[in-house]
Amino acid sequence: MDLMAGPVRSKEIEILKARTDAMQKRGVTPTLKVILVGDMKASLIYTRSKKKFIENFGASCEIIHLPSSINEAEFLAEVGNVVGDDSVHGLFVQLPLPKHLSHIDVGDLIPGHKDVDGFNQKNIYELFKGDRGDKALLPCTPKGIITLLHHYNIGLDGKNVVILGRSEIVGRPMALLLLNHNATVTVCHSKTQNIKAITGNADIIISAIGRAKFLDRSFLGDKKPVIVDVGINHDDAGKLCGDVNYDDVKDLCSAISPVPGGVGPMTILSLAQNLLQATEMSL
Ligand code: GUN
Repeated sequence: MDLMAGPVRSKEIEILKARTDAMQKRGVTPTLKVILVGDMKASLIYTRSKKKFIENFGASCEIIHLPSSINEAEFLAEVGNVVGDDSVHGLFVQLPLPKHLSHIDVGDLIPGHKDVDGFNQKNIYELFKGDRGDKALLPCTPKGIITLLHHYNIGLDGKNVVILGRSEIVGRPMALLLLNHNATVTVCHSKTQNIKAITGNADIIISAIGRAKFLDRSFLGDKKPVIVDVGINHDDAGKLCGDVNYDDVKDLCSAISPVPGGVGPMTILSLAQNLLQATEMSL
């Protein structure tokens, strides 16, 4: 079975529309601002598709596009202006930032109640303490993966879940969120020994390492796991692909999220859900 985002988004967008309509009746339009620095092609594509999705259900999204030549003081002032704007319910800084700004911790710049990325300490602390998203705005990719698994009735209670990758955006928050859903979690990374013995025993494998077609059938045992592919890579021919060698593993797993069409669109759905949560919390 392919874990496609399309059907989940079709269902969830109706809920987003209804919530947005209810707020508009109270005179409030959920409003997101995106701060984009520079002209990295992937970031331009991601921010445009986020804007399109958000406008599609009646909320507002503006991309504030700043030149890569902007200096640190100017950048901080721009972010400060948006943070202080009461008409803005959520904002985020598209990553990566250019090298001369990359030391800035954007999680510190954006207050928890507007932090639709879930990077602020307040949100991370709630996640750490066991929240499943009732109090915290959760990081978008981990939240989207939970929504995807839930939609396809894939339970987490007591499951052996193996995460490949320990990044701040995916691997680490994913591990905490899975713990909050009662999974037994193992995080593998570049220094992990004997990784195939670990993945071979998994009920669910979540790969977020950014290496094209890395995970093949040699990583799988006979448990027919569910595979979630977070990777957005290009293969030798320049074609978009995930971390998983889809054709090689598809008959050896019980379900798999494709690239494209799996986790990527779920991340955008989570962002929209976080925007509405942030807006509702502000009323
Ligand atoms: N760039 C890649 N993924 C993300 C994300 O989740 N949030 C932000 N702000 N930038 C990203």
